[in-house]
Amino acid sequence: MNAVFPGSFDPITSGHMDVLTRAARIFDHVTVTVMHNARKQGRHLFTLDERLEILREATAHFPNVSVDTFGGLLVDYMARQETGSVIVRGLRAVSDYEYELQIAHLNRQIGDAETVFIMAATRWSFVSSSMVREIASYGGNVSEMVPRASASALRRKHADVYEEREAELQAETAGS
Ligand code: PNS
Repeated sequence: MNAVFPGSFDPITSGHMDVLTRAARIFDHVTVTVMHNARKQGRHLFTLDERLEILREATAHFPNVSVDTFGGLLVDYMARQETGSVIVRGLRAVSDYEYELQIAHLNRQIGDAETVFIMAATRWSFVSSSMVREIASYGGNVSEMVPRASASALRRKHADVYEEREAELQAETAGS
């Protein structure tokens, strides 16, 4: 059985990687698909191409994972998949559940698409792409919270901030 793991992935986090690792053990093939989230329109840090590039690098070691993108409805994308394919969504905490439940029911109603939830490990329960983006925008260390590909991309995006913060920290250390 195959699965589709859809999301914004702006950028992919260690929580996403944890869910993907678990999904790749359960399903024959998992497609990580970058899609539009209308609630996040125009608020992306990374372009679609950048997100795809990061995803390809971060998932290269999985033999049964591929990366894709689709600009329409998730149910239309699912209709193009092999029969019986399911949607995989990760749950970090109970707070995710209400929103995810609504989407899962809607996707079943409008496209007969089945959703399987995979619980991320508790150590990632506080990690989200938005928090990671915020920490990185101030030059903070996100290396534990994201795969190496995301960390490098965040560093490149905020190169000035990271260099400035490192110089400040070095000056403080030298002065103490
Ligand atoms: O990582 P996200 O932003 O929580 O992922 C949400 C996403 C992209 C999977 C969801 O917004 C989605 O399925 N978008 C495609 C358009 C669609 O089918 N919308 C109806 C269900 S909300």
